[in-house]
Amino acid sequence: MKKRRIGTTDIEASVVAFGAWAIGGGTWWGKTDDDESIRAIHAALDGGINLIDTAPVYGWGRSEEVVGKAIAGRRDQVVLATKCGLWWHDQRGPVFFELEGHTVRRLLRPDAIRREIEDSLRRLGTDCIDLYQTHWQTTEPDKDPIAETMECLVRLKEEGKIRAIGASNVDIGHIRQYQAAGVLDAIQPRYSMLDRQIERDLLPYCMEHSISTLVYSPLEQGLLTGRIGMDYAVAPGEYRGNIPWFKPENRRRVLDMLAGWKGLTEKYGCTLSQLVIAWTIAQPGITFALCGARKAAHSSENAAAGSLVVDEADILKIRKDVEGLGNPE
Ligand SMILES: NC(=O)c1ccc[n+]([C@@H]2O[C@H](COP(=O)([O-])OP(=O)(O)OC[C@H]3O[C@@H](n4cnc5c(N)ncnc54)[C@H](OP(=O)(O)O)[C@@H]3O)[C@@H](O)[C@H]2O)c1
Repeated sequence: MKKRRIGTTDIEASVVAFGAWAIGGGTWWGKTDDDESIRAIHAALDGGINLIDTAPVYGWGRSEEVVGKAIAGRRDQVVLATKCGLWWHDQRGPVFFELEGHTVRRLLRPDAIRREIEDSLRRLGTDCIDLYQTHWQTTEPDKDPIAETMECLVRLKEEGKIRAIGASNVDIGHIRQYQAAGVLDAIQPRYSMLDRQIERDLLPYCMEHSISTLVYSPLEQGLLTGRIGMDYAVAPGEYRGNIPWFKPENRRRVLDMLAGWKGLTEKYGCTLSQLVIAWTIAQPGITFALCGARKAAHSSENAAAGSLVVDEADILKIRKDVEGLGNPE
């Protein structure tokens, strides 16, 4: 498993990370078995993954609790990343979404962060979070000043409650504000071979400023594994329904493209998921790929992609194919 440092810290994390959103279950992901999720996390660790990314909002604390159970006794093997800023505990902050009887707001006020971190530390069964990230940035009319948020995060670092600071779902304007108030070690944007928007500005900026990127949904929620066929029916409320590539006409085009890579998977003796993950972490500016999984077989398979090296010519061939696919209709 290849490892890379988070920002300019001395924290070394695996290029393939375990994403713990799906193990939170609920409307977005459907039925989820905690024992199976724990086996998936153990398989990830056994396969050389040490970076685990979770968040309070993933199952209203369930994902963090399951991660906490899974890493009990193995905390020293794990680089633990979680988040703050999606808030459902009072009426402050602009509403982001409603789900399962909770109104989730964007709130990054210091007192809210202070409460969130204590809850996360308790659920995760630890006294320190390696990478603490703001989940979504706040919006008008109740926009929290990033300077105040960052001041709070810097204090938490001084107090030893966190080791590195990250921000998710940011643009360059946000990043500059974080940098003006402290050291931003990482960002967490969406990126997959089917969604390469951040290549235009965010990735070059991060490379120039030594900011790591933890990219989410690199497998397009399973579509790029080739295991979600045309017969897969997206359930009402399931998060996959928000991804245009899942619409049948678009899905067909993706599956046809993946079918064309049989020669590549044979050449490397790998699965499609592994080829896609290896391609993702080979892209300039991409530091870590956050791969969600809730089955041990999937996390072992994904972990093995962390040592797969794909020839430059094949990396370029894949890029040509995905660029040829264009945008979803
Ligand atoms: N910061 C943010 O706003 C944000 C947003 C989204 C995600 N994230 C983070 O990024 C992580 C990954 O993103 P994601 O979960 O959206 O998408 P993803 O990693 O692209 O897809 C994860 C899903 O793909 C399927 N899968 C994974 N490996 C597989 C394999 N080897 N074979 C077959 N199927 C496989 C699994 O589906 P099943 O579980 O149905 O088997 C899994 O839950 C999240 O867990 C979370 O930590 C952050």
